[in-house]
Amino acid sequence: VSTTAILSALPEEQQGLIALLHQPIKTLYAGREFWQGHLHGQPVLLALSGIGKVAAATTATVLIAHFGVSRIVFTGVAGGLGEGVQVGDVVVAHDFMQHDMDVSPLFPRYLVPLHGKTCFAADGALTAELFAAAQSALVQLNASLSTWAFPSARVHRGLVASGDRFVSGRQEAQDLRDRLQAAGHAVLAVEMEGAAIAQVCHDYQLPFASVRTISDRADDAAHLDFSYFVSQVASVYARTVIEKLLLN
Ligand code: ADE
Repeated sequence: VSTTAILSALPEEQQGLIALLHQPIKTLYAGREFWQGHLHGQPVLLALSGIGKVAAATTATVLIAHFGVSRIVFTGVAGGLGEGVQVGDVVVAHDFMQHDMDVSPLFPRYLVPLHGKTCFAADGALTAELFAAAQSALVQLNASLSTWAFPSARVHRGLVASGDRFVSGRQEAQDLRDRLQAAGHAVLAVEMEGAAIAQVCHDYQLPFASVRTISDRADDAAHLDFSYFVSQVASVYARTVIEKLLLN
Protein backbone atom coordinates (compact mmCIF):
# COMPACT_ATOMS: atom_id res chain seq x y z
CA VAL A 1 0.00 0.00 0.00
CA SER A 2 1.15 3.52 -0.68
CA THR A 3 0.71 5.82 2.28
CA THR A 4 0.29 9.57 2.03
CA ALA A 5 2.00 11.50 4.83
CA ILE A 6 0.18 14.65 5.84
CA LEU A 7 2.43 17.06 7.67
CA SER A 8 1.14 20.03 9.62
CA ALA A 9 3.22 22.70 11.28
CA LEU A 10 0.95 23.24 14.27
CA PRO A 11 -1.23 21.05 16.53
CA GLU A 12 -4.23 23.30 15.82
CA GLU A 13 -4.12 22.31 12.17
CA GLN A 14 -3.54 18.63 12.87
CA GLN A 15 -6.34 18.15 15.40
CA GLY A 16 -9.17 18.35 12.89
CA LEU A 17 -7.47 15.75 10.72
CA ILE A 18 -6.81 13.33 13.59
CA ALA A 19 -10.51 13.55 14.48
CA LEU A 20 -11.37 12.28 10.97
CA LEU A 21 -8.97 9.32 11.12
CA HIS A 22 -10.53 5.87 10.94
CA GLN A 23 -8.94 3.44 13.46
CA PRO A 24 -5.99 5.67 14.38
CA ILE A 25 -2.78 4.14 15.74
CA LYS A 26 -0.31 6.43 17.48
CA THR A 27 3.43 5.65 17.35
CA LEU A 28 6.26 7.55 19.04
CA TYR A 29 9.51 7.90 17.12
CA ALA A 30 12.36 10.41 17.39
CA GLY A 31 10.39 12.24 20.07
CA ARG A 32 7.49 12.75 17.68
CA GLU A 33 3.94 11.39 17.45
CA PHE A 34 2.88 9.68 14.22
CA TRP A 35 -0.80 8.91 13.59
CA GLN A 36 -1.51 6.07 11.17
CA GLY A 37 -5.00 5.37 9.88
CA HIS A 38 -7.39 5.79 7.00
CA LEU A 39 -8.98 8.96 5.67
CA HIS A 40 -11.74 8.45 3.11
CA GLY A 41 -10.46 4.90 2.62
CA GLN A 42 -6.90 5.98 1.91
CA PRO A 43 -3.93 5.06 4.12
CA VAL A 44 -2.44 8.17 5.68
CA LEU A 45 0.15 9.04 8.27
CA LEU A 46 -0.30 12.34 10.13
CA ALA A 47 2.59 14.11 11.80
CA LEU A 48 3.77 17.51 12.96
CA SER A 49 6.76 18.88 11.10
CA GLY A 50 8.01 20.85 14.08
CA ILE A 51 9.05 24.46 13.59
CA GLY A 52 12.02 25.38 11.46
CA LYS A 53 14.11 23.68 8.81
CA VAL A 54 15.99 21.18 11.00
CA ALA A 55 12.87 19.87 12.75
CA ALA A 56 11.04 19.59 9.43
CA ALA A 57 13.94 17.79 7.72
CA THR A 58 14.12 15.27 10.56
CA THR A 59 10.39 14.60 10.42
CA ALA A 60 10.47 14.18 6.63
CA THR A 61 13.42 11.79 6.87
CA VAL A 62 11.66 9.66 9.50
CA LEU A 63 8.48 9.55 7.38
CA ILE A 64 10.45 8.28 4.39
CA ALA A 65 13.22 6.12 5.87
CA HIS A 66 11.37 4.66 8.86
CA PHE A 67 7.69 4.63 7.89
CA GLY A 68 8.17 4.23 4.14
CA VAL A 69 5.51 6.72 3.04
CA SER A 70 5.20 7.20 -0.70
CA ARG A 71 4.39 10.91 -0.83
CA ILE A 72 4.30 13.90 1.49
CA VAL A 73 1.71 16.68 1.58
CA PHE A 74 2.23 19.70 3.82
CA THR A 75 -0.59 21.87 5.11
CA GLY A 76 0.15 24.98 7.10
CA VAL A 77 0.14 28.76 7.23
CA ALA A 78 2.57 31.30 5.81
CA GLY A 79 3.23 35.01 5.69
CA GLY A 80 2.16 36.73 2.47
CA LEU A 81 5.10 38.41 0.75
CA GLY A 82 4.08 38.76 -2.88
CA GLU A 83 1.94 41.66 -4.00
CA GLY A 84 -1.72 40.70 -3.85
CA VAL A 85 -1.15 37.69 -1.59
CA GLN A 86 -3.63 38.54 1.16
CA VAL A 87 -4.61 37.06 4.53
CA GLY A 88 -7.06 34.23 3.83
CA ASP A 89 -5.57 33.48 0.41
CA VAL A 90 -4.00 30.10 -0.29
CA VAL A 91 -0.53 29.52 -1.77
CA VAL A 92 0.25 26.18 -3.39
CA ALA A 93 4.02 25.91 -3.81
CA HIS A 94 5.47 25.50 -7.28
CA ASP A 95 9.00 25.46 -5.83
CA PHE A 96 10.94 26.41 -2.72
CA MET A 97 14.11 28.27 -1.75
CA GLN A 98 15.92 29.02 1.53
CA HIS A 99 16.05 32.78 2.03
CA ASP A 100 18.68 32.38 4.79
CA MET A 101 21.09 30.18 2.80
CA ASP A 102 24.22 32.20 2.04
CA VAL A 103 27.60 30.64 1.18
CA SER A 104 28.75 33.69 -0.76
CA PRO A 105 31.27 34.55 -2.01
CA LEU A 106 32.15 30.86 -2.47
CA PHE A 107 28.82 30.20 -4.15
CA PRO A 108 26.03 32.48 -5.39
CA ARG A 109 23.81 33.66 -2.56
CA TYR A 110 20.86 31.26 -1.84
CA LEU A 111 22.45 28.37 -3.73
CA VAL A 112 22.59 25.08 -1.83
CA PRO A 113 26.18 23.94 -2.41
CA LEU A 114 26.80 20.41 -3.77
CA HIS A 115 23.19 20.23 -4.91
CA GLY A 116 24.04 23.15 -7.16
CA LYS A 117 20.47 24.38 -6.89
CA THR A 118 18.71 27.36 -5.36
CA CYS A 119 15.14 26.19 -5.90
CA PHE A 120 13.72 22.76 -5.22
CA ALA A 121 10.56 21.95 -7.16
CA ALA A 122 7.36 20.55 -5.74
CA ASP A 123 5.99 17.45 -7.52
CA GLY A 124 4.05 18.60 -10.57
CA ALA A 125 1.22 16.06 -10.55
CA LEU A 126 0.63 16.17 -6.79
CA THR A 127 0.78 19.97 -6.85
CA ALA A 128 -1.85 20.09 -9.60
CA GLU A 129 -4.13 17.87 -7.48
CA LEU A 130 -3.52 20.04 -4.43
CA PHE A 131 -4.23 23.22 -6.38
CA ALA A 132 -7.57 21.83 -7.58
CA ALA A 133 -8.37 20.68 -4.03
CA ALA A 134 -7.59 24.13 -2.63
CA GLN A 135 -9.80 25.82 -5.20
CA SER A 136 -12.76 23.58 -4.54
CA ALA A 137 -12.21 23.92 -0.78
CA LEU A 138 -12.51 27.71 -1.09
CA VAL A 139 -15.70 27.35 -3.11
CA GLN A 140 -17.16 25.07 -0.44
CA LEU A 141 -16.11 27.29 2.47
CA ASN A 142 -17.61 30.33 0.76
CA ALA A 143 -20.87 28.53 0.15
CA SER A 144 -21.28 26.78 3.48
CA LEU A 145 -20.11 29.23 6.10
CA SER A 146 -22.28 32.30 6.46
CA THR A 147 -19.65 33.77 8.75
CA TRP A 148 -16.74 33.04 6.41
CA ALA A 149 -14.31 35.93 6.75
CA PHE A 150 -12.54 35.64 3.39
CA PRO A 151 -15.16 35.68 0.61
CA SER A 152 -12.68 37.00 -1.96
CA ALA A 153 -9.85 34.61 -1.12
CA ARG A 154 -7.78 33.33 -4.05
CA VAL A 155 -5.47 30.38 -4.67
CA HIS A 156 -1.98 31.27 -5.94
CA ARG A 157 0.80 29.02 -7.22
CA GLY A 158 4.46 30.02 -7.11
CA LEU A 159 7.74 30.27 -5.25
CA VAL A 160 7.78 29.91 -1.46
CA ALA A 161 10.77 30.98 0.67
CA SER A 162 11.70 29.22 3.90
CA GLY A 163 14.03 30.33 6.67
CA ASP A 164 14.56 29.98 10.39
CA ARG A 165 12.91 33.26 11.22
CA PHE A 166 9.36 34.48 11.81
CA VAL A 167 9.22 37.56 9.59
CA SER A 168 7.31 40.24 11.49
CA GLY A 169 8.07 43.74 10.36
CA ARG A 170 6.83 45.84 7.47
CA GLN A 171 10.35 46.99 6.60
CA GLU A 172 11.85 43.55 7.07
CA ALA A 173 9.23 41.98 4.81
CA GLN A 174 9.82 44.61 2.15
CA ASP A 175 13.61 44.21 2.35
CA LEU A 176 13.27 40.44 2.05
CA ARG A 177 10.96 40.73 -0.95
CA ASP A 178 13.27 43.24 -2.67
CA ARG A 179 16.44 41.24 -1.92
CA LEU A 180 14.94 38.05 -3.36
CA GLN A 181 13.45 39.91 -6.30
CA ALA A 182 16.86 41.43 -7.10
CA ALA A 183 18.28 37.90 -7.26
CA GLY A 184 15.53 36.94 -9.71
CA HIS A 185 13.19 35.22 -7.26
CA ALA A 186 9.57 36.40 -7.15
CA VAL A 187 8.44 34.99 -3.82
CA LEU A 188 4.75 34.68 -2.90
CA ALA A 189 5.02 33.58 0.72
CA VAL A 190 7.44 33.03 3.56
CA GLU A 191 7.41 30.17 6.06
CA MET A 192 9.90 28.05 8.02
CA GLU A 193 9.84 24.45 6.75
CA GLY A 194 8.94 23.88 3.10
CA ALA A 195 12.35 24.20 1.47
CA ALA A 196 13.86 21.76 3.96
CA ILE A 197 11.23 19.10 3.25
CA ALA A 198 11.55 19.70 -0.49
CA GLN A 199 15.30 19.11 -0.30
CA VAL A 200 14.86 15.86 1.67
CA CYS A 201 12.22 14.66 -0.80
CA HIS A 202 14.50 15.61 -3.70
CA ASP A 203 17.28 13.45 -2.24
CA TYR A 204 14.93 10.47 -1.70
CA GLN A 205 13.13 11.12 -5.02
CA LEU A 206 9.73 11.25 -3.34
CA PRO A 207 6.78 13.42 -4.43
CA PHE A 208 6.16 16.45 -2.20
CA ALA A 209 3.54 19.19 -2.39
CA SER A 210 2.58 21.97 -0.02
CA VAL A 211 -0.43 24.17 0.60
CA ARG A 212 -0.19 27.21 2.86
CA THR A 213 -2.95 29.54 3.93
CA ILE A 214 -1.83 33.13 4.40
CA SER A 215 -2.19 33.96 8.09
CA ASP A 216 -0.44 37.35 8.03
CA ARG A 217 1.47 39.75 5.80
CA ALA A 218 4.80 39.31 7.65
CA ASP A 219 4.41 42.94 8.80
CA ASP A 220 4.26 44.72 12.16
CA ALA A 221 0.96 42.98 13.03
CA ALA A 222 2.12 39.53 11.87
CA HIS A 223 2.28 37.97 15.34
CA LEU A 224 -1.27 39.09 16.18
CA ASP A 225 -2.76 38.06 12.82
CA PHE A 226 -0.89 34.74 13.00
CA SER A 227 -2.21 33.87 16.48
CA TYR A 228 -5.81 34.66 15.59
CA PHE A 229 -5.64 32.80 12.30
CA VAL A 230 -4.03 29.68 13.74
CA SER A 231 -6.55 29.38 16.56
CA GLN A 232 -9.68 30.23 14.52
CA VAL A 233 -9.23 29.47 10.84
CA ALA A 234 -6.25 27.28 9.95
CA SER A 235 -7.77 23.93 10.93
CA VAL A 236 -10.91 24.55 8.86
CA TYR A 237 -8.75 25.16 5.81
CA ALA A 238 -6.46 22.19 6.45
CA ARG A 239 -9.35 19.75 6.90
CA THR A 240 -11.31 20.95 3.90
CA VAL A 241 -8.34 20.97 1.50
CA ILE A 242 -7.08 17.53 2.57
CA GLU A 243 -10.57 16.03 2.29
CA LYS A 244 -10.89 17.38 -1.25
CA LEU A 245 -7.46 16.01 -2.12
CA LEU A 246 -8.16 12.50 -0.83
CA LEU A 247 -11.67 12.32 -2.25
CA ASN A 248 -10.35 12.96 -5.74
N1 ADE B 1 4.34 31.43 9.05
C1 ADE B 1 3.22 32.18 9.10
N2 ADE B 1 3.54 33.49 9.08
C2 ADE B 1 4.89 33.56 9.00
C3 ADE B 1 5.81 34.64 8.96
N3 ADE B 1 5.40 35.91 8.99
N4 ADE B 1 7.15 34.33 8.90
C4 ADE B 1 7.56 33.06 8.89
N5 ADE B 1 6.73 32.00 8.93
C5 ADE B 1 5.40 32.25 8.99
